Amino acid sequence: MATALVILAAGKGTRMNSDLPKVLHPIAHLPMLAHAMRAGQALAPERVVIVAGHGAEAVSRAAREENEEARVVLQEEQLGTAHAVAQARAALDGFSGDVVVLYGDTPFIGAETLERMIDARRDHDLVILGFKAADPARYGRLVMQGDSLERIVEYKDATEAERAITFCNSGLMACRADLLFELIEAVGNDNASAEYYLTDVVEIARNRGLSVTAVSCDEAETLGVNSRADLAAADAVFQARARADLLDLGVTLMAPDTVYLSADTVIGRDTVIEPNVVFGPGVTVESGVTIRAFSHLEGCHVSRGAVVGPYARLRPGAELAEDTRIGNFVEIKQATIGEGAKVNHLSYIGDASVGAGTNIGAGTITCNYDGVMKHRTEIGERVFIGSDTMLIAPVRIGDNAMTATGTVVTRDVEPGALALARSPQENKPGYAVKLFNMLRARKAKRDAKKG
Ligand code: UD1
Ligand code: CA
Repeated sequence: MATALVILAAGKGTRMNSDLPKVLHPIAHLPMLAHAMRAGQALAPERVVIVAGHGAEAVSRAAREENEEARVVLQEEQLGTAHAVAQARAALDGFSGDVVVLYGDTPFIGAETLERMIDARRDHDLVILGFKAADPARYGRLVMQGDSLERIVEYKDATEAERAITFCNSGLMACRADLLFELIEAVGNDNASAEYYLTDVVEIARNRGLSVTAVSCDEAETLGVNSRADLAAADAVFQARARADLLDLGVTLMAPDTVYLSADTVIGRDTVIEPNVVFGPGVTVESGVTIRAFSHLEGCHVSRGAVVGPYARLRPGAELAEDTRIGNFVEIKQATIGEGAKVNHLSYIGDASVGAGTNIGAGTITCNYDGVMKHRTEIGERVFIGSDTMLIAPVRIGDNAMTATGTVVTRDVEPGALALARSPQENKPGYAVKLFNMLRARKAKRDAKKG
């Protein structure tokens, strides 16, 4: 049977203490909502409906970025989880399969768990996903009778005996679409929060003689994010998994716990990542690369055989060809570095292209910004750029050319030419000794005055 997802994402997330809607807070640089949507893709849903409220416009944009076909519906007032699901009704018009309700702030539900819910749905009218909570805290409690779920009682409305139950509600449920909306219609708001609780559909279904059950999953999967501390914990869970996946794929992480990955980081086998490396969004690293300690990469591509760092910064648009060397305190932005080229020390290469086999000397800067506009620097193949060369863009250096150390390049350099632009040196014999003596005398006089 076809499946549709309804993902609840209207809540403000007061405890995040943020201007950003809760579901847009990133885990590994990907919004929590997108993680939840990806988890739901395991069911190959025919439709995906996002219920937005707080920050609906931004939530809608993020949802569409993840899945162009996602339908976003608005819940203007947050009157409760049942009211939220009810807003999805029109968007599911004509859909006759199972609806799975997910939460936008519960990003790590496993594929196997969702499949077990759908399997259980074949034998029961309504399926709830529960978990044994180490600390049941304020979760809704599942009141079971054998295999049958009798009702869910919210913490606020629970008796002492009910609060002692440790089998808790994850919030996820599966139900045939038409039945779900029918049950929701019967939900009232006579409870401790004066909210329309989705959890009430359980008792309503039981009263109609329908069959309701609960499927159980690991607590780690139902990890919900309500605070910054939860967000950090969720990120840590993600990082641990992503690192383990890389190790399985044949990547060496010398100190796994110190490497920060993004949800879209791709690293090839036999690549070595030294300690304390940060991967921002949009990084792909091929096989056989070494990323040395304390490097920061984002929006870049590193080809086979390259060595990057220690202490290198690759910014968006950095494109390193095979066997390149990017050394310490080098920043590369919007620039292609040709095969075997080297930028080993203390340089900024931005809005530039560097040809194959070129060597960029220490302290070289592409002066790409004139205060208003950005300009390009184009450096050919097998060029030798002397240390401390300032390349004032726009400028081109031809193949096999050379710049002398300390040169400020303001004009194009033709292939094979040497550019030399520095004032001639003058040596004045004995001057240093005289100058020292004069300065020391001055200091002695001042010290005497002070007493
Ligand atoms: C809910 C469950 C509780 C369960 C817990 C698991 C109900 C009544 N209670 O409680 O049994 O143990 O989740 O985390 O369902 N939302 C909307 N619109 C609303 C209200 C909520 O979109 O009007 C969204 C929130 O953004 C959030 C989700 O629904 O993503 C859950 O809402 P929340 O208020 O956090 O529910 P809990 O009180 O945690
Ligand atoms: Ca919650």
